[in-house]
Amino acid sequence: MSPTLTIRPFRTPARGVAQVPGSKSITNRALLLAALADGETVLTGALFSRDTRILITALLALGFEVAADEDAQTIRIVGQGGRIPQTHAKLHIGNAGTAARFLTAFLALAPQGVYELDGDEAMRARPMAGLLEALTGAGCRALRADGQPATHFPFTLHPSGRLGELVVDASASSQLLSALLMVLPLSPGASVRMKGTTVSEPFVVMTEKMCTQFGRPLNREANGSWRCPQPGAYQALGTYAIEPDATAASYFIALPAVTGAGAGVRLQGYVKNGLQGDTAFAEVAGHCGATLTPQGSSLVVQSWPDLRGGNFDFNDFSDTFLTLAALAPLASSPTTIRNIGHTRKQETDRVLAMATELERLGVKVVPTAEELRADDKLSALTIHPAREALRAAAVKGPVEIHTYEDHRMAMSFGILGSYDLWGDGRPWIAIQDPACTSKTFPKFFQALEALRTQFVAVAVDGGAASGKSSTAKVVAHELGLLHVDTGAHYRAVTRALLDAGARAEDVTSVLPALAHLRLGSEISGISSVVTLDGHRPVDASLRSEDVNAAVSKFAALPAVRNFLLAYQRSQVALGQAAGFAGVIMEGRDIGSVVLPQAEVRVFLQADPVARAQRRAAEGQTDAVAQRDLLDSTRATAPLVCPEGATRIDNTHLPLVAVVAQVKALVQSVARPA
Ligand code: DC
Repeated sequence: MSPTLTIRPFRTPARGVAQVPGSKSITNRALLLAALADGETVLTGALFSRDTRILITALLALGFEVAADEDAQTIRIVGQGGRIPQTHAKLHIGNAGTAARFLTAFLALAPQGVYELDGDEAMRARPMAGLLEALTGAGCRALRADGQPATHFPFTLHPSGRLGELVVDASASSQLLSALLMVLPLSPGASVRMKGTTVSEPFVVMTEKMCTQFGRPLNREANGSWRCPQPGAYQALGTYAIEPDATAASYFIALPAVTGAGAGVRLQGYVKNGLQGDTAFAEVAGHCGATLTPQGSSLVVQSWPDLRGGNFDFNDFSDTFLTLAALAPLASSPTTIRNIGHTRKQETDRVLAMATELERLGVKVVPTAEELRADDKLSALTIHPAREALRAAAVKGPVEIHTYEDHRMAMSFGILGSYDLWGDGRPWIAIQDPACTSKTFPKFFQALEALRTQFVAVAVDGGAASGKSSTAKVVAHELGLLHVDTGAHYRAVTRALLDAGARAEDVTSVLPALAHLRLGSEISGISSVVTLDGHRPVDASLRSEDVNAAVSKFAALPAVRNFLLAYQRSQVALGQAAGFAGVIMEGRDIGSVVLPQAEVRVFLQADPVARAQRRAAEGQTDAVAQRDLLDSTRATAPLVCPEGATRIDNTHLPLVAVVAQVKALVQSVARPA
């Protein structure tokens, strides 16, 4: 067991980009489908955690070529079109439910072979019978050590290579059904019929959608059975992008409920209508008071003005019930979570574990842990508001929460512990065995810490083509900052002034044109993009020859500079509201005039020949030296190296080296809040 972790409550609102890993369910399905495809697929944004490593290790043991690159979050896998290279293997699948079920069905495709499968103690107790019975019906034998038919792990599988007409009882877990659906196309004429119903229907839909993505759509027929109209190997996809994990995202949707007003957490790439049913948690959170704003392909979570309870059916997205249950003691009214009976047979008995730990904190739950222990059919939990009780329970110091090797227990109570119960930052919750999050989210507690950092402003100044944009964009991307290019602001204004017939030499032609200008901002990826009258100007129109020639002249006019100053300063608030960890603004006068309080100031320079070459390489006609002269000799806000700025000459430095220097500067001032 890893050492207990005391959670430090947040004393300031959570801010920044939540580092959510790739979805476990999608990664493990994609690994299997890619292995059954007719060639190579590279999974991008893949999850690297205990459960996915277990499946990767198993595929390697079965003779597949799999190359995982954890830094790049990619997994390259060469599919064998339905063939399993090794006919004999011994596989240990730990407590990975998806790997256990998916691999068992996968191995049933082998026309011959002997496969020994085992798992942890907890896995040996998890449901397998429905799947094993279905496969036995198709002539595949799963035998215990004593030669009797197995209903649980461990067992030895003697496959027959044919599936035929399978009948599956998936009432205990939808994974039992998903496992069979994924192998269905590889066995012509096969069908899968479900006995009764299953839990967590969205995971079945995820499986169906992914079979379609890999080129083998399934038909779900009215009588509750599935067939593949065009059976065969899956198609290798070249690359396949894994969505960020919606269950993991639930913790960061919840966090702003407990960290006070002014929070802004950004979930980059949060796919609302993608493959994952757990995105439904966002709707429940909305009912309980969350403020959620979709922004392009991101979701921004602000502080919840109000945290209230409610009555919810979590059957379809039950992995997220623990997130809400852990918040519930802080709500203003009771929270009832229904239809979660199947979670009593997951990593642990999750309903009982949740009730036990909430009671440890003095919270009233119905049924009680004792009642749950007496009746394993109970499938709902009501949690009562309990702020006072929490204080009473924690009066002697942090309460140690038991996590039962369940990653979701650790993460959920990590969020509750982030609440400043005493109002003075004193910790009140400690998490036993925090490393159990490695099952799906190895860096969860680091990701939580990262949202504690105060908003940081970075000013990057320098002459034309000194590398400001390239550097600022990469730093923004890597540190979760909003990137603002003020040169583009001057270019957009210049474009509009030229179009209106204004001339820099005649300020009386500039003022009326400026009065009509309506600037706005749009966030695109990590950058704030200027809009003119609600429209984004085309990039080429801002880098045209006439703009290049006129921009420094217009930029020298105090009227133009004043016009842009308030707009540029407002970008800081924009970045805060949109959940960025800070802002990185580039230009000529950022550290000196626009953001003189910026915590980090950088001045980039390169020799004029190198800079002219950079522009020429971009295919631009741009008299770099001439613009620099105008920019640095004007009376208002000239280009200077701001006081206290770090000078970086990048004439001979590669971009990665400059980025590393700037990142180090930012990290050295990033004060934990
Ligand atoms: O960074 P850039 O080359 O796109 O900038 C275009 C012009 O805008 C630059 O020559 C001068 C002006 N500018 C400025 O005066 N102050 C800034 N903060 C940014 C740009």
